[in-house]
Amino acid sequence: MKKMNLALCLMALVVLSGCGDKPKSDVVTYKYTPEQVYKETCLHCHGPKGEGVAEKKGPAINKQTIQELEMSLFDIKNGGLGQSTATEHDVMEHNMKKLAEKGYDYDIKMMATYIHNTFNITK
Ligand code: HEC
Repeated sequence: MKKMNLALCLMALVVLSGCGDKPKSDVVTYKYTPEQVYKETCLHCHGPKGEGVAEKKGPAINKQTIQELEMSLFDIKNGGLGQSTATEHDVMEHNMKKLAEKGYDYDIKMMATYIHNTFNITK
């Protein structure tokens, strides 16, 4: 019986979080540009040129295609939602929740494009 209740609760949770209470608007405005977000929150782990920072274990992000970057960023941003291949570790490193709270949220496509156009060395 207890198990049944738990299952029902979980189902309700999934349904609720799936729909959300607020209607989602298509237009999201971000407080900072990808460049600002990168320089203030990503740079110390991924380097001023996206070359990576060994001490922080931040990998180089200067060789990936826009699509690859988008996929990685998607994983990172959605790491907590259970559908991603990102590990808890990645999610912790990137701490999206904290970034978002500080207003450092970003658009995945814009960030991928920024990183690619600014740092890519394979072009
Ligand atoms: C605390 C250090 C840290 C910060 C800050 C950080 N990263 Fe990372 N990032 C990592 C580490 C470590 C990995 C490797 C984890 C993994 O992918 O397994 C990673 C992986 C990535 C990848 C995937 C790279 C690949 O291998 O394809 C991208 C893209 C990325 N970060 C972008 C960003 C962006 C954009 C920001 C800023 C919003 C950011 N990171 C902030 C440490 C950091």
